[in-house]
Amino acid sequence: MRQDMIVILDMGSTENTVLARAIRDLGVYSEIHPHDITMEELARLENVKGIILNGGENRIVDGQPVEVRPELYHCGCPVMAADHPTAKCEQKLDALPDEETLKEFVFGKCKAEANWNMKNFIEDQVELIRRQVGDKKVLLALSGGVDSSVVAAMLLKAIGNQLTCVHVNHGLMRKHESEDVVEVFKNQLHANLIYVDATERFLGKLDGVADPEQKRKIIGGEFIRVFEEEARKLDGIEFLGQGTIYPDIIESGTKTAKMVKSHHNVGGLPEDLQFELVEPLKQLFKDEVRACGIELGLPADMVYRQPFPGPGLGVRCLGAITRDRLEAVRESDAILREEFAAAGLDEKVWQYFTVVPDFKSVGMKNHERSFDYMVIIRAINTIDAMTATVEKVDWDVLEKITDRILAEVGNVNRVCYDMSPKPPATIEFE
Ligand code: XMP
Repeated sequence: MRQDMIVILDMGSTENTVLARAIRDLGVYSEIHPHDITMEELARLENVKGIILNGGENRIVDGQPVEVRPELYHCGCPVMAADHPTAKCEQKLDALPDEETLKEFVFGKCKAEANWNMKNFIEDQVELIRRQVGDKKVLLALSGGVDSSVVAAMLLKAIGNQLTCVHVNHGLMRKHESEDVVEVFKNQLHANLIYVDATERFLGKLDGVADPEQKRKIIGGEFIRVFEEEARKLDGIEFLGQGTIYPDIIESGTKTAKMVKSHHNVGGLPEDLQFELVEPLKQLFKDEVRACGIELGLPADMVYRQPFPGPGLGVRCLGAITRDRLEAVRESDAILREEFAAAGLDEKVWQYFTVVPDFKSVGMKNHERSFDYMVIIRAINTIDAMTATVEKVDWDVLEKITDRILAEVGNVNRVCYDMSPKPPATIEFE
């Protein structure tokens, strides 16, 4: 392994991620592990130069006091306790070891080298993947989102054509999205890519279904069934690649006991389809995943794309999905994205999209009465998607987008701008 590592053991702190970032900011790789990690598991981690026991107030995890394994102190590397009041405790907010203390521990005591960078991270992961997978085969659901794309690129680098990617086009993708996945991964990177156009199947299942939760359930469930069918056609697959990233495993502030075991993320594959997981990004934060993707040579627009919900345009074509309104969502979304990019807003605004409600309004077209759909534009900023504020988009930009949507998108006679923050609204409409 190329990188030295400081292990943070979560003893109930709400600041594990902040501490991990602080250590990575010093140039040293850091991983967060549960307080009850076994000595064997610890021994399997390589190049561990030091351990920080990161306790919150009173070392409580999920209501239970936690204790340090005494053997930990004899593991052969320096151990530091960093007990601190949690941010909730008001007297003291100096929650984390200060930079000098941290530096003294990391570099002075542990003699760690500042060799954490994406190149080394990738080399290490490539080696770990090869060791884990051997000459076996790995399957990956490649949605084209940032995380699955970066995992695909990493696995390709590590094991080449032992990887099979499956891209399911549920018919609810943005304009050109599936084509881009095929272009980048199949044509440019020469991955084994199975492209499944399941548009008819999804739209058939969704026909007449207006309830948002029902729609989400159908899309999610059908997605797993299509993927499963493809998996069953393939022989000798033993591993499943997953784009799990650190925030998927543990929300900041969540205590160890609530940690979602990453294999629970597989998402409902049947019991007889048993795979071992390969999750090379599971210790990375989102910005690091993007940096990793760039280092692996993925196009910037793939790596820096805005969040896109799993159910895709299905939750933006409001109510029961119809093909004409789905097309209106897709076309208006493409125009919005084009114009935001032209105005430089794509790098500034966190998420922006259009939705089309399932009712019509009266308008006028070519001096005649029209009765058509409306497009609602939404552009929001947020840190963590828990709350969001509305972007104050320049009026001229909005006018241009409106003109283009009205001129270029069929069945639309009205464009609105959504002014609602979250809360009380949510980011998506459904
Ligand atoms: P809401 O609408 O809850 O959305 O304010 C918060 C963020 O989550 C995204 N979102 C999803 N992402 N699968 C995802 O991967 C989903 O089913 C899903 N639903 C919503 C949404 O786009 C926003 O960024």
